[in-house]
Amino acid sequence: MADMRSFPDGFLWGTATAAHQIEGGNTNNDWWAWEHRPDSICAEPSGDACDSFTRWREDLAIVAGLGLGAYRFSLEWSRIEPAQGEFSEVALRHYRQQLEAALAMGIEPVVTFHHFTTPSWLAAQGGFEHPDTPARFAEFCARATERLGDVLSMACTINEPNVVALAGYRMGAFPPGVADRGRYEVVTERFCEAHRQAQSAIKAGPGSFPVGMTLSMTEFVAAPGGEERMVSIRALHEDVYLDATSGDDFLGVQCYSRELVDANGLVKPTAEQRTTQMGYEFWPGCVEHTVKRAAAWTGNPIYVTENGIGTEDDAERIEYLAEAISGAHQCIADGVDLRGYFCWSLLDNFEWVYGYRPKFGLVEVNRSTFERTPKASAQFFASVAKANALSR
Ligand code: BGC
Repeated sequence: MADMRSFPDGFLWGTATAAHQIEGGNTNNDWWAWEHRPDSICAEPSGDACDSFTRWREDLAIVAGLGLGAYRFSLEWSRIEPAQGEFSEVALRHYRQQLEAALAMGIEPVVTFHHFTTPSWLAAQGGFEHPDTPARFAEFCARATERLGDVLSMACTINEPNVVALAGYRMGAFPPGVADRGRYEVVTERFCEAHRQAQSAIKAGPGSFPVGMTLSMTEFVAAPGGEERMVSIRALHEDVYLDATSGDDFLGVQCYSRELVDANGLVKPTAEQRTTQMGYEFWPGCVEHTVKRAAAWTGNPIYVTENGIGTEDDAERIEYLAEAISGAHQCIADGVDLRGYFCWSLLDNFEWVYGYRPKFGLVEVNRSTFERTPKASAQFFASVAKANALSR
């Protein structure tokens, strides 16, 4: 077909989720406590989420039915290590079953070891501010890899440490609700260290698979006079992690939009601009920009491990994904070693502080019955994956 833009053979198409956002009943971590504080800023608690702790087979069957090659999900550390040094056989077996089932269905399981949530026992010790936490995290990774390494296809150490650091220690919006520049800097360093230690721990275990970090990236744009400010925002939010991950097996780029920066900082989109349910500008072009920046900086192979849109309008999701994937294609055409694209998210799920209102899913989830209904965007994404090409 004249108008087909093909991706290289073996390009990995997948969707992504995270334990706390879909499993339900993750009562033993810092987020559950944060959601249930009397003065909580969360729209609602995560509660039963999508009941995926029980319904994971259904979720995998949907991924397989869509013909996707990969599924990215996370291990809930607080289930595997509910108290310091105490490891749950049942939880490890649960995740092992999930990994084996994925492989049996022809789906490459991509596992994240830390996706925003920290076990309550560790949060009580100071979480990622504590100097021993990188070692505690590496120990968890070693134990989990010992039991699961032989059935992993790819591992992500920490999901968006830059968002956890910024929102948790600078903006006070994520647990532990701190807004302090100095503590933010300390946590940033700890996350880089935790990544390095986790990576060695995972690589020392069974299995042979790529290990990397996933980083939240934004297409920052400087308004006149905002150049210096933009560079300084990016330095601690992105560049420090790009340095820390140079030479890794891969870097997972996660992006959703672009942001304007003037001399005073970030500028909110105006009322005239098209925005998403998250209040971000509708800007699928961020994929091409951030992937190119990450690749040029690190020299690593890149996967887009998350990209998508919070919208009630599924036609808008299709529009967004088509443009974003077109940007991914452009990266490859321009010589970037981009190896896969994961849509966030498989399911409509718990969007952290915003609760269940933002709809990022390719699949709708009934909040009372938990029934899953694939949307038109799921079919669209499946058709791109099947053709390994964009036809529009
Ligand atoms: C996170 C996800 C989140 C998504 C959409 C990323 O920052 O990794 O957990 O749901 O963006 O906001």
